[in-house]
Amino acid sequence: MTVHEAVGLRSALADQLTCGPAWREAVEAVPREHFLGSAIARATEYGDRWEVARREEMTGDEWLKLVYRDETWVTQVDGVMVGEARGLVCGAPTSSSTMPGLVVRMLEAARISGGEKVLEIGTGTGYSTALMCHRLGDKAVTSIEYDQVVAGRARDALAAAGYAPTLVVGDGLAGYEGNAEYDRLIATCSVRYIPIPWMWQVRDGGTITAPLSGWMGGVAFAHLTVADDGTASGRFLEDDVYFMTARPHGPPPMSSPLLGIGNGRGSRVDPRVLDDPAGLFVGQLAAPSAVKLGGGAEVALLDVATGSQATTRPDPAGGWTVRQHGPLRLWDAVEDAVLVWQDAGSPHQSAYGLTVSGERQRVWLGDPGGPSWDLPV
Ligand SMILES: C[S@@+](CC[C@H](N)C(=O)[O-])C[C@H]1O[C@@H](n2cnc3c(N)ncnc32)[C@H](O)[C@@H]1O
Repeated sequence: MTVHEAVGLRSALADQLTCGPAWREAVEAVPREHFLGSAIARATEYGDRWEVARREEMTGDEWLKLVYRDETWVTQVDGVMVGEARGLVCGAPTSSSTMPGLVVRMLEAARISGGEKVLEIGTGTGYSTALMCHRLGDKAVTSIEYDQVVAGRARDALAAAGYAPTLVVGDGLAGYEGNAEYDRLIATCSVRYIPIPWMWQVRDGGTITAPLSGWMGGVAFAHLTVADDGTASGRFLEDDVYFMTARPHGPPPMSSPLLGIGNGRGSRVDPRVLDDPAGLFVGQLAAPSAVKLGGGAEVALLDVATGSQATTRPDPAGGWTVRQHGPLRLWDAVEDAVLVWQDAGSPHQSAYGLTVSGERQRVWLGDPGGPSWDLPV
């Protein structure tokens, strides 16, 4: 492997990206190989199994070609760095180097264009941090990583590539007061709601750009402007982005439930609506502490907070039967929300916006006066 080869591959990667010239220049300058260490994991046909590719088992050329693919490479699964695992790794990804194309799309969506002071949540490998350091300078960039081992590797990689931002090990949901106020806050892990410290640390007129996710798996990409009255508001963006959930925002573990209990009735909506990302998003807004199992016409929703459940199945006579059990009528709430969304023409998540004010975080459809649902803060 030669430096010359890496330069060529970086430039070929930059050619594939649809970003402006300044981010292109950053992609051409930042050596991604520093940030991927000695092993990465790739998805297999089984969703939760990962095949490890090791630098030592490949020719230098093969490894570099992998590094410079516009792909997300997983570097940690269930808290174990993939280089330390043997054979197939099983579990959920807990850290990765996000695909460069998505990173630069996020940076552009956050309107980082030079001169801003940025707080990044989720340093991961440090690759996105390095792109920002290249464009904005080390002093303008602060990045927080939850996992100590991941943070240590990112620190070494950033130093090796010649960058020295402020790196913090800790819970990014608390932000970092040390360098506040920030012009931009950008999260490369998704959140269930906007953490209030972020609102205090971003200056008036500054922005928060973060993927919003929930326990059913619905996602939307929030871009909020902080106002001088302490509120923040904005529409969701059109990009469909998926990021791993911020560590304390995932669902709690569940014991195996007994499913299918409760009185049955006909469903007013086709349960397959939850297979559509926009349908799932609105369903999740209506049942924010429920997780979703199954799919198609046979869905189970389980409310982690109350133990309530709803299960659907096709009715041999036509339509679908739903059974509900527990204090929350989960399917009633999901049906109502889905019908509102369908009445509005079943739009993408970018038809909604989010307003954060005081104790309340309200997702609205159409405009701030439209139908709305509270996030579980
Ligand atoms: C998708 S990766 C980040 C990708 C990274 N920006 C890159 O370009 O390589 C998400 C990271 O967020 C971190 N993370 C999860 N929850 C966090 C939290 N509450 N605070 C800070 N970091 C968190 C994970 O440990 C993981 O490393």
